[in-house]
Amino acid sequence: MYRLLFDCVLRRLDPEFAHDAAHRLIAWTGAVGPARWAVRAGVAALAGGGRTRPTRLLGRMLPGPLGVAAGFDKDGRAARGLTALGFSFVEVGTVTPEPQPGNARPRLWRLTDQRALRNAMGFNSPGARAVALTLARLRASQGGWDLMVGVNIGKNRTTAAPDAPADYFTAAAHLARHADYLVVNVSSPNTPGLRDLQAVQALRPILEAARAGAARSLEGTGRRDRLPLLVKIAPDLPDDSVRQIASLAHAEQLAGVVAVNTTIAHELGPGGVSGPPLRRRGLDVVRLLRDELGPDKTVIGVGGISSGEDVAAYLAAGADAVQAYTAFIFEGPIWPARTGRAAGARH
Ligand SMILES: Cc1cc2nc3c(=O)[nH]c(=O)nc-3n(C[C@H](O)[C@H](O)[C@H](O)COP(=O)(O)O)c2cc1C
Repeated sequence: MYRLLFDCVLRRLDPEFAHDAAHRLIAWTGAVGPARWAVRAGVAALAGGGRTRPTRLLGRMLPGPLGVAAGFDKDGRAARGLTALGFSFVEVGTVTPEPQPGNARPRLWRLTDQRALRNAMGFNSPGARAVALTLARLRASQGGWDLMVGVNIGKNRTTAAPDAPADYFTAAAHLARHADYLVVNVSSPNTPGLRDLQAVQALRPILEAARAGAARSLEGTGRRDRLPLLVKIAPDLPDDSVRQIASLAHAEQLAGVVAVNTTIAHELGPGGVSGPPLRRRGLDVVRLLRDELGPDKTVIGVGGISSGEDVAAYLAAGADAVQAYTAFIFEGPIWPARTGRAAGARH
């Protein structure tokens, strides 16, 4: 049914317009109790039989292993609605310290024959203060801490590389107290120079600044020093750089790594590609990370997941949990619940 709607209507709409409309609808559904319950019940009825597989992630038990990847809910407004659709956790962001509009439109394209997307969004973000307010409201609402919400932070476009640590400090200082975990994003291809910050010498001070910002934010909450900090990496890094980041994760006592972001290893135009073309490299990076990180660190696998089989493949490669974005766009609102159940049936 969604496939029909997609083929006949949605694919004719501008992709960013369609995304904004879906995001607004999901946010509204999440905010209105009866709508949320109706969606939860409807999705459960349509998703078919079976159960999701309870999953431990960063010290919390979740109903299943499938979360929403960063980029879908940049402002945090849709977190509750997304969990009503069957996602087990949500990564909000990327959030920049100051508000910024991102790149000029158009900046999101469908590669329909591959069921993939290409984007050059460039961190459109309402800024850390605004997102902190949204998340504070969510957390203060009934059951607000029942949702697992990670926050992914980045730097503003106009911030020069040497000043990047200060941006990560500021973003963490606003947001950490509302987060279950924090992700330092240095891997999006659409902010000039950002991916160079994956080099260990550049990354170390950024991680230390994010940790210091988080400590500031958590003062007085009783959670000081206990917020898991992760780094999100690109699929285009050579294996040696992935190994170096893994040893930095040990040295800096990170909780783990999110792998992978979109790829620029294509010749399709500006921006990063997501969806099925990422899957093979995503699995390889997750496998390599698991070998290098050992059993105690967390690996969140993301990249080209479109079925229960893909979820199972990532878990078998060593991921503790997984995320998706592109398949949700192509497959529609029942997809998260159906895929979570299909993955559960494989264990
Ligand atoms: C339109 C779009 C926007 C994205 N924005 C972000 C972002 O702000 N921060 C981030 O870390 N990743 C971002 N991503 C990358 C996703 O989080 C994910 O790593 C990538 O899309 C691979 O997963 P998928 O194949 O399931 O889409 C974005 C992806 C898309 C398609």
